[in-house]
Amino acid sequence: MKTTRQEDNPVPLAKPEIVLDTSAWRHYHVLDLDDFTAEEIELVFRLADIMKKVMSHEMEKLTTLKDKTVVNLFYESSTRTRVSFEAAAINLSATVVNITASASSVTKGESLLDTFTTLEALGADIVVMRHSQSGAPYTLARYVKANILNGGDGRHAHPTQGLLDLYTMQLHKGNLKGLKAVILGDILHGRVARSNIWGMTKMGMQVTLCGPPTLMPIGIGNQGDAFPNVKVEFDIDAALDGADIVMVLRLQRERQQGGLLPSIRDYVQLYQLTEQRLARAKPDALVMHPGPMNEGIEISPAVAHGPQAVIDEQVTNGVAVRMALLYLLGRSEK
Ligand code: CP
Repeated sequence: MKTTRQEDNPVPLAKPEIVLDTSAWRHYHVLDLDDFTAEEIELVFRLADIMKKVMSHEMEKLTTLKDKTVVNLFYESSTRTRVSFEAAAINLSATVVNITASASSVTKGESLLDTFTTLEALGADIVVMRHSQSGAPYTLARYVKANILNGGDGRHAHPTQGLLDLYTMQLHKGNLKGLKAVILGDILHGRVARSNIWGMTKMGMQVTLCGPPTLMPIGIGNQGDAFPNVKVEFDIDAALDGADIVMVLRLQRERQQGGLLPSIRDYVQLYQLTEQRLARAKPDALVMHPGPMNEGIEISPAVAHGPQAVIDEQVTNGVAVRMALLYLLGRSEK
């Protein structure tokens, strides 16, 4: 006798249908969040909500990018950004090509522009790019036809990280307006900090930057600078008082020049986010970190894996947010 198994009659997945007004979207490239409007950021959130349904298999895979090739061009190492862009592009049915600069003709002296035009000649439609030079994607954007998504340029910007961070906050807190965020650590070398400052202030959040004076950009937080809702506080306890969001940044030892810190031990003593320090923030404050973490340096293991940490969620939300961005760029016109 034939029995009927669950998998013989699977529940049909919802058909991929995106009924959303995307007219707020203005971008051909995504280079940083300075030129994003709050409406565009909200649109990315609403699309990411839908993309999460594809990720959880409630909805069929989308075919938006079935005729497009997405190239991940990484001149610097990455785990989260590269893999999540790859997953995001596959979920939208794109052809995906991954290029690591150290294994390409870059090692034979090929220039960035030559590499890029070669990729376009091979059919690249959207290029996700990480580069150690601040501004590299901006230079390319002047010359190329493909859409460029900045996956992190030097110390300058990491816009998709900023958007996935904002999305994670919004999922937990609802309205972002008026929330107090503390960005803690190496602000000077932090592209994540810069993009988050733009994104958070666009969404009406209050931002406190906290870290050693030698790792703070000169002029930021001064009266009359570009960010009226950003202040600098060197004392960690004062900074954390009443915070809704505590975003810890990695101490970027690879970008440090000698003399910026007396020692790592001093940094740990003065600026590590510990359970005791976190207690000064609101009891429901979120602990965030873009990764990779130096556990035991900028963040204690107890906090990194504690009940307030949403660090793994940030990574998962990164796929949904990057799907939303690829979806929008895949339909954008120059
Ligand atoms: N947050 C981030 O950019 O991580 P990766 O360097 O692993 O991509």
